[in-house]
Amino acid sequence: MYTYSEFDHDFLKTRNAQFRAQVERRISGALTEDEFKPLRLMNGLYLQLHAYMLRVAIPYGTLNSAQMRQLADISERWDKGYGHFTTRQNIQFNWPRLRDVPDMLDALAEVGMHAIQTSGNCVRNVTADHFAGASADEIADPRPVAELLRQWSTDHPEFQFLPRKFKIAITGSPNDRAVTRAHDIGLRMVRQGDAQGFEVIVGGGLGRTPVIGKVISDFVPEQDLLPYIEAILSTYNSFGRRDNKYKARIKIMVNELGLDEVRARVDRRFATLRAEWSGADRAILRDLRESFAPPAFRTAPTEGYDVAYRHDPVFRSFADTNLAAHRHPDYAIVTISLKAHGATPGDATAEQMRLMADLAAQYGHDELRISHEQNVILPHVHKSDLPHIHAALQSAGLATANIGLISDIIACPGMDYCALATARSIPVAQEIAQAFRARELDIGAMKIKISGCINACGHHHVGHIGILGLDRAGVENYQITLGGDGTETAALGERAGPGFAYDQIVPAIDRLICAYLDLRVDAQESFIAAFRRLGPKPFKDALYQTGGRADAA
Ligand code: HEM
Ligand code: SF4
Repeated sequence: MYTYSEFDHDFLKTRNAQFRAQVERRISGALTEDEFKPLRLMNGLYLQLHAYMLRVAIPYGTLNSAQMRQLADISERWDKGYGHFTTRQNIQFNWPRLRDVPDMLDALAEVGMHAIQTSGNCVRNVTADHFAGASADEIADPRPVAELLRQWSTDHPEFQFLPRKFKIAITGSPNDRAVTRAHDIGLRMVRQGDAQGFEVIVGGGLGRTPVIGKVISDFVPEQDLLPYIEAILSTYNSFGRRDNKYKARIKIMVNELGLDEVRARVDRRFATLRAEWSGADRAILRDLRESFAPPAFRTAPTEGYDVAYRHDPVFRSFADTNLAAHRHPDYAIVTISLKAHGATPGDATAEQMRLMADLAAQYGHDELRISHEQNVILPHVHKSDLPHIHAALQSAGLATANIGLISDIIACPGMDYCALATARSIPVAQEIAQAFRARELDIGAMKIKISGCINACGHHHVGHIGILGLDRAGVENYQITLGGDGTETAALGERAGPGFAYDQIVPAIDRLICAYLDLRVDAQESFIAAFRRLGPKPFKDALYQTGGRADAA
């Protein structure tokens, strides 16, 4: 894993000292809120419904145990003892006091973390596959490239004031776990013969105008990646719309100019940039690859795992649901669910963070990951250690065996915290998780994603079932979308029809699920597969057939 250099540490120290002085000036009244706002946003500090909110980047979702422990300490010392992991591999603290934030940032800097560029019209935290470097299905670990992009984009003088925020996601696996097609730039590692390169996708995004990204180049060789991305950003910086905030994302530029025209402009810019490029990034990337070298995997018997799997049904269901195939056959990737039934999706208490840090230190080569699905991952665990890990997780309420099931819901903070929310998200997620608890294994693979407004932080457009909370004349109303998909077969869900009142949303989902259970060929056919085979009609019929108070919306 990448460790910060002296230069990085000095940079954070200076930056935090500047911000401390700005906070002091705000508290003394020397700065008005309007003057302070751009300064705080440059340091990830938002003002939300009830309090400030600090958004901290977890680059490409990778953490070590010291970093996780520090997050736990920060949440206890200066917040309410928990943190919220988001769909963008960030953690948000929802209750800091303004005067404490400089201390929080110093504490983060001690472990090489910060909140820079977690807000503003710049390149945001670069996200990646949460199984990177571990997964059996991977071409190569995308994180060295993600780190290169992070270094290149942080404080990049040309790209601090883009027309709008800019999100880059990268995957090294053909199975896309990074939602690359819903990002401003999505990068997928591909090989052509012996050459390593990238398929570059541009202009995806969710929010009020959801768009699936388009392939601008099917192969950019690795040595050209940085100048090519610089060419895209530079083109966007010149031609992206600045007259209207809602039309400022690159997806609108691609739609208005057309992909071919954008490609032509990017290619022209690239030709100039490529010629000027020194190639210094090649050496940096080589060093980064070394720092991301896989840990020394051990060879040891795995019988302990086999015995527990045979004899302990609770462990077996955890193993069947929460483990993924590791590149080393004696190892497994463990996904720890932050979705206990009835819990707030993505929240972890300080004790839970500490326990996960301890497990990573003791059994997991000191690595943790945060997924865009708001869970935590131990990427490298020897199978013989899994029974201990499972027991430890159970003691902390972290052993819920529901990864990929109906209760593994993504939900944004909605009206519980967010100043932009038009409806609640968290209670809807909690009620659905409770309502289907007994049936979730039978229901099988299912992605429900919930947002509390059109900004789509909860990725509802790419949920198999998406739920969007809106305000209709002061009353919460929930629109359902069907058939969305955030993977390599990405698709936007289509709106099913009129929305539902808050107390009708669980019954509506219940009708959908019952219809699916009736319609599926067999238990192997997932909801999304059945939806693709049958189309929306039978599902829409089920949603609206009972006349169950579908509010006209
Ligand atoms: C509570 C404070 C938050 C605020 C004020 C906020 C604000 C916004 C806004 C205004 C957009 C729309 C941007 C656009 O279309 O240009 C957006 C999009 C998004 N936000 Fe948030 N957000 C918040 C929290 C979160 C959280 C907690 C998550 C993850 C659970 C998240 C993840 C995202 C994602 C994935 C998008 C869609 C990106 C896209 O359009 O491509 N945000 N957010
Ligand atoms: S989707 Fe809306 S309500 Fe939810 S976090 Fe984003 S801005 Fe807030």
